Amino acid sequence: MSKISDQLIPWQKKFGRNNLPWQGTNNPYLIWISEIMLQQTQVKTVIPYYQKFIENFPDINTLAMAHDDEVMKLWSGLGYYARARNLHESAKIIKSKFQGEFPKKLTDLISLPGVGRSSAGAISSFAFNQKTPILDGNVKRVFTRIYGIKDWAGIISVEKDLWILAEKNLPENKFGKYNQALMDLGATLCIKKEPQCVQCPIKQLCKSYKNNWTNIIPASKPVKEKLTEISYFYIFQYKSKFLFIKKPKKGIWGGLWSFPEFKKELNIEQWIFKNSGIKHFKLIQNGIMMTTFTHYKLQMNYQHLEVKKFKSSEVMEGLLWEDKDKIEEGAYPTPVKKLVKKLLIDKVLL
Ligand code: ADE
Repeated sequence: MSKISDQLIPWQKKFGRNNLPWQGTNNPYLIWISEIMLQQTQVKTVIPYYQKFIENFPDINTLAMAHDDEVMKLWSGLGYYARARNLHESAKIIKSKFQGEFPKKLTDLISLPGVGRSSAGAISSFAFNQKTPILDGNVKRVFTRIYGIKDWAGIISVEKDLWILAEKNLPENKFGKYNQALMDLGATLCIKKEPQCVQCPIKQLCKSYKNNWTNIIPASKPVKEKLTEISYFYIFQYKSKFLFIKKPKKGIWGGLWSFPEFKKELNIEQWIFKNSGIKHFKLIQNGIMMTTFTHYKLQMNYQHLEVKKFKSSEVMEGLLWEDKDKIEEGAYPTPVKKLVKKLLIDKVLL
């Protein structure tokens, strides 16, 4: 019987993506960085971040030795910040536990924080041409369509079956090329809406094509209403500087700098006088900004406060007064950057 890989590999060579910045190398470090960036982000968004990241951290050692803030700064705007913290952590692990040598064994790859089975399979096949399957979101769609699987691929038993199918369909050689072909097919032809079946090299092997099921497969994830969380943000401005506090490593925006934030509306004066050097301030304006995360929404209730009197010697560690012009490029969450821009404009207009 004709195999998926017999059709897909030549198709990839002709029609696939072959000039992405992380291709044409078998350096596992570079491939690893790209795979982590590509986990939840599209290729065109990743490219400039990838280039800047590897310019600053060209190898494991430079990444392992970097300061947290430097790493977070280069990730700022890409989202899912745990990925950056995990990369940094993994680089340190590779340096200490694997003598700075990128691990080759699949189980060692999976042991690195942030590297799941699919990313490990991609790195292992791209960098070392090892026979390892992948199963990211795009590839799940390809296999559910080929085999006519009507259940949602997020169900554990379905995912387990898909891994078995992914493994079974591996070719005898050219493992990296084959995995790239699966990704490319999923990203360019076997797309969710209006798949381009006419051009598909494996349509004759596809149950969904034959049965006209491409509009019902893949099944969508059951919709869950997103809950809204509420937080109160206190945005202090002294001349052209804003006050930030470092977010704890765990939780949203972990490791980035954000405005002082509380779950309850506070008598902010009590907090301020203890920690910040702020002596006297007045309210300029308050407002609300909504931000959406994967699992919930955040209602950011903010107060913009202008500091009139300030004593720099009283600023405690973990707080930072940063100039407005340094915020755009720094380790700050995107909604924080947006809010600073808006407040600066509003202040002129008010
Ligand atoms: N998505 C995940 N890995 C990828 C890769 N190597 N090329 C293109 N898209 C990808």
